[in-house]
Amino acid sequence: MTTRQDLERTIEFEFVRATENAALNTIKWLGRGEKELADAAACDAIYGVFDTVPMRGAVMIGEGIKDNAPGIFLGEQLGTWAPDTPCFDIALDPIDGTTNVGKGLPNAISVISASQRHDPEVPAMINIPAFYVEKLAYGPPVVAAMRQHPSHPVHLAAPVGPLLDFVARALRKRVPELVVATIDRPRSAPLIAAVRRAGAALRMIADGDVTAAVAPALADSGVDLFHGIGGAPEGILAASALKCLGGDLQLRMWFKDERQRAATAGAVAARDLRRIFLARDLVPGAGAIFCATGITDSAMLPGVKLIGETAITHSILMRAKSRTVRYIKAVHNLKAKTIRLRSDATFHTVI
Ligand code: FBP
Repeated sequence: MTTRQDLERTIEFEFVRATENAALNTIKWLGRGEKELADAAACDAIYGVFDTVPMRGAVMIGEGIKDNAPGIFLGEQLGTWAPDTPCFDIALDPIDGTTNVGKGLPNAISVISASQRHDPEVPAMINIPAFYVEKLAYGPPVVAAMRQHPSHPVHLAAPVGPLLDFVARALRKRVPELVVATIDRPRSAPLIAAVRRAGAALRMIADGDVTAAVAPALADSGVDLFHGIGGAPEGILAASALKCLGGDLQLRMWFKDERQRAATAGAVAARDLRRIFLARDLVPGAGAIFCATGITDSAMLPGVKLIGETAITHSILMRAKSRTVRYIKAVHNLKAKTIRLRSDATFHTVI
């Protein structure tokens, strides 16, 4: 008898195939200054895999509204959509870190998350219709300490000093040993100053904040906390990963100016404009699948390596229900390996 969980267990490997193929199809654009062609190549490979997967996938969180790059967008359908196949709400970023790919810099991944929708009326993932959001992400020991101390200062709106004191105690560290990741933007200046004043160390990334936000929940990532303002879709992807890992993410909409605020205000309930969402609010479905493949090296995954006639990919695959985290190293024989692309519905060699 097939249970709901069993469907996730079998279909999750198709998600990895999709991110692996996206990473492999992108590699020809590494460092070539053509980030949009890289994005288009990743999308083509993802569509190419899902066009043969028996499921009804609804893209709830697609490419951000902050740029006009090629992408897979909100409202698109993935899978064969054959009757009686499972329904999934899907969040994806064919490349998080397109600029990094264009420049050949670290921190680019292909990433997909899904949550099975059991009731057509009840979404399993929530779209946040803002350009940017504030994000605060932490791992399971911090979640446990927060439960023990309900008046904790782990809050997006809390002063950084007490927040770092609490996180340090939860991790049995001193504040100077703490590593806080953030995205290096002018808008991060107050946070950067506050972290430095408190005496913790910073890791600033140029682009690609999904890996940085998930890092605090991964053993040995070297990152204890993520605090920063980045893209909204990337926030939901990170929330899904943190749900699988037993960590958490706080997310609140952030507006660069009044024009941005007004554009979003018409699309959401007034109370949601200042609401702090947790991972369970963003991915309310009973389960979640998260998978990513490294394109270039990051705190989460090594990037694609081309060695002679092989390509090596590293992926992470996890599920919230089982909390199993799989690291999948795949060795692809480039003489035999082909990737199905949607653009011509045929199989292609990698390079
Ligand atoms: P894309 O590669 O999908 O465009 O996103 C890159 C990224 O760095 C995200 O990881 C981050 O959340 C967002 O852009 C930050 O936006 P901005 O570059 O506008 O500050």
